[in-house]
Amino acid sequence: MISANNVTLRIGKKALFEDVNIKFTEGNCYGLIGANGAGKSTFLKILAGELETTKGEIAVTPGQRLSVLEQDHFKYDEYPVLDTVIMGNQRLYDIMKEKEAIYAKEDFSEADGIRASELEGEFAELNGWEAESDAAQLLNGLGIEPDLQEKQMKDLNGSEKVKVLLARALFGSPDILLLDEPTNHLDLAAIEWLEEFLIEFPNTVIVVSHDRYFLNKVCTYTADIDYGKIQLYAGNYDFWYESSQLMIKQMKEANKKKEEKIKELQEFISRFSANASKSKQATSRKRALEKIELDTIKPSSRKYPYIDFRPNREIGNEVLFVENLSKTIDGVTILDHLTFTLGHDDKVAFVGGNELAKTVLFQILTGEMEPDSGSFKWGVTTSRAYFPKDNSKEFDNDLIIVDWLTQYSEIKDVTYVRGFLGRMLFAGDDGVKKVKVLSGGEKVRCMLSKMMISGANVLIFDEPTNHLDMEAITALNNGMIKFPGVILFTSRDHQIVQTTANRIMEILPNGTLIDKITTYDEYLESDEMARKRQVYTVENTPEDN
Ligand SMILES: Nc1ncnc2c1ncn2[C@@H]1O[C@H](COP(=O)(O)OP(=O)(O)OP(=O)(O)O)[C@@H](O)[C@H]1O
Ligand SMILES: [Mg+2]
Repeated sequence: MISANNVTLRIGKKALFEDVNIKFTEGNCYGLIGANGAGKSTFLKILAGELETTKGEIAVTPGQRLSVLEQDHFKYDEYPVLDTVIMGNQRLYDIMKEKEAIYAKEDFSEADGIRASELEGEFAELNGWEAESDAAQLLNGLGIEPDLQEKQMKDLNGSEKVKVLLARALFGSPDILLLDEPTNHLDLAAIEWLEEFLIEFPNTVIVVSHDRYFLNKVCTYTADIDYGKIQLYAGNYDFWYESSQLMIKQMKEANKKKEEKIKELQEFISRFSANASKSKQATSRKRALEKIELDTIKPSSRKYPYIDFRPNREIGNEVLFVENLSKTIDGVTILDHLTFTLGHDDKVAFVGGNELAKTVLFQILTGEMEPDSGSFKWGVTTSRAYFPKDNSKEFDNDLIIVDWLTQYSEIKDVTYVRGFLGRMLFAGDDGVKKVKVLSGGEKVRCMLSKMMISGANVLIFDEPTNHLDMEAITALNNGMIKFPGVILFTSRDHQIVQTTANRIMEILPNGTLIDKITTYDEYLESDEMARKRQVYTVENTPEDN
């Protein structure tokens, strides 16, 4: 069990948490939800002991082991994949290393012998003999095949690293497991595997996620962060939603009744207070009136940002010509002679499981990577704005938000720039915050502000919904539908793909392209083969092809 007792956290003048009391117990999976910037990641850091509270404390049942999904993708670059996973149980890993050192000695003393047998005892207790096969099993489940398990962490790509870090967190059945947005960089097959794992997991899980579907599947409790407090609901996300709506409805109804009563009393008082014979009654009703208190209804503080991409100039007929574009990475063909032309009404969704190919294509088209062969040409009237999948480079500096965004604005005026931040829900005093302290979702909102302020007429998005809360996803979806220019994008959000795209492209595992003028649902329905190929890439099972 882990609990927070009277926890308060102030950052500067603002209290992010105020007297929070909550208990997390065995056998339950808690979904920690709340708007972008509500404090979910911060709360997990407090629970993990990585962040000091201003007041109050965290209590963990003595002897219990807590495990956290690491966010730093480069931390273990110098370690082998399998070791990285086993290190998830630090004590076990230390024993293994000490044992190895003792056995490697040439002059093995008696004291060494005693120490070695102590270590062997503890090693066996911690299931040390199964460590490697357990770690391999977790990695296999997440789609990290044995040949990758032999490699160093630095040789893996971003989404593979995320899977290893996840396996590391799950390794050795921790008593308390803390996961911050674990599904963000996972493919569908890995998400399904994780869902099953968490459903079967016997100990305590606290998981932050914006993915409704995932939360509904795995959570037994929902903990909602709002107004610096955490409210616990015994049920999954849908249950939380329904019951919080119901509570507001009941409070509204109760308030309506009270208001009627108030009105009635007020009428009585004003009619009879001048009348001597009734004035006594009027006075007592006045007292009754004073006693009625309306409940203050605090609907959720979640808000919709306003996303509106306005091109500075209209796009011409010639948008993009791609001819025979090819790229091979580490001996694997990623793009194989891609050829297509885009017109000025195209909103193209790149779909299918071949994540890397989509990212590589966007990187080539935005000049971040060179193709091996072939060419592409943007039309002279086009100007592009790019939303990369990994935005860490953008925020690795000491700038405050306003200055950061001003870099990308033609008009270097603070009020003008603040207007864009305001639409993205950054309050006036947020403008002086440093970009590096922002929450995941706040960083994405900055990236979207950058795209808006750029005035580009071609937008390129690589998975823009990662980290965003529901309200921001809806606002982005509306902005994409409304945009009068050209869009090239990938998104795991079915609704965004279905409502935005009028053209679908899929890069197959062999690097070739399917290109259809159609909507996503029609594409999925009509092209049985394409769907099969998608399953093939996601699950990596050649038999399905
Ligand atoms: N050092 C700091 N200085 C100022 N503000 C900070 C600092 N660290 C965090 N914050 C702010 O605290 C708030 C909570 O951040 P946190 O990362 O916990 O949010 P979150 O709920 O995880 O959001 P998201 O859904 O976007 O991941 C944010 O508004 C963030 O900008
Ligand atoms: Mg967060």
